[in-house]
Amino acid sequence: MIKYAERINSLPPYLFAAIDKAKAEIIKKGVDVINLGIGDPDMPTPPHIVDAMKKSIDNPARHKYPSYEGMLSFRTAAADWYRRTMNVTLNSEDEVLTLIGSKEGIAHIPLAFLNPGDVSLVPDPGYPVYNIGSILASAKPFKMPLLAGNEFLPDLDAIPKDVAKKAKLMFLNYPNNPTSATASIKFFEEVVDFANEFEIIVVHDDAYSEMTYDGYKAPSFLNASGAKDVGIEMHSLSKTYNMTGWRLGFAVGNSEILAGLGKVKTNVDSGAFEVIQEAGVAALTGPQDCVRDMNNIYKERRDALLTGLKELGLDVKPPRATFYVWAHVNGKAADFSKMLLEKAGIVATPGIGFGEYGEGYVRFALTQSVDRINEAVNRMRKLDI
Ligand code: MLT
Repeated sequence: MIKYAERINSLPPYLFAAIDKAKAEIIKKGVDVINLGIGDPDMPTPPHIVDAMKKSIDNPARHKYPSYEGMLSFRTAAADWYRRTMNVTLNSEDEVLTLIGSKEGIAHIPLAFLNPGDVSLVPDPGYPVYNIGSILASAKPFKMPLLAGNEFLPDLDAIPKDVAKKAKLMFLNYPNNPTSATASIKFFEEVVDFANEFEIIVVHDDAYSEMTYDGYKAPSFLNASGAKDVGIEMHSLSKTYNMTGWRLGFAVGNSEILAGLGKVKTNVDSGAFEVIQEAGVAALTGPQDCVRDMNNIYKERRDALLTGLKELGLDVKPPRATFYVWAHVNGKAADFSKMLLEKAGIVATPGIGFGEYGEGYVRFALTQSVDRINEAVNRMRKLDI
């Protein structure tokens, strides 16, 4: 008789794996599904990045075990990218760590800093891995509600003092998945004060920093004064350069915090394939017009979807960052998503999948062409929503 560990028993199935299953069932029935579910860019990785990978794969030196902390050339490219895009200076030797995608870093960091029973502060709604990583470390995630009334920012004053005192780690993510909210440097500075007061490590997930519209520039957490003393920022090449399948990201900031994460990683993985890291160097140091071009495409899609959803009477605000539209819907989120899938062949993620405070919302990812988005809106017109 196989018995799973308690920590596995208490985990729900991974949100997007569950959605994939439901989607596969509908596709089996022959339905033409419009997938606005997972945040997986539909456009290909830009050719100069693919070419760098092709060149690298022919070099046998790249086929060996990579260095644990990542190639210095990749970490230097990341540090230079940070200086150019965020105006943040980093030492590539010990303030940058290569990740096998930021999901990996997010899942592993609780193992470095949370003892069983310790508290982590996680946003709700939020990317499920903040919560899951904490549970895998036998820690207790405490949910910080992200509410529309507070612009989907956590209310730091509402965190009970006894919880804050027990907390060791706080996860944040702006531009935010799933709400698409943004945060100011002033808010990040309040977080730094809070982290100093309660001796909390801040992990800011910045996966969507480059996906911005209407002239908006998203600040880095490290732009806040004192941020490097208390925290790190996780970055992903997945969304910025359409590289979800390649599994490449990096963490930057406080060298002691990165050393803790690095110690876990050296014991559980052997680093990112160097061929992929060389493609990452091409992405970070090469022409950046591909990012601007993709944002222009997402903006057109955003506007098409918003126009359609508003006509249908849904409460939606135009996001100025991320490729998500967070729509307030009538009734329960799961019922709404189920109806969209079963009656219209549209995959959209129920807000409840991101936590209890996501109830009443559905997330649409802008990962289909304007034509397909218009088709989705047409299909929704025929429903009672
Ligand atoms: C999302 O769609 O929220 C995530 O990016 C999917 C994932 O990383 O698993």
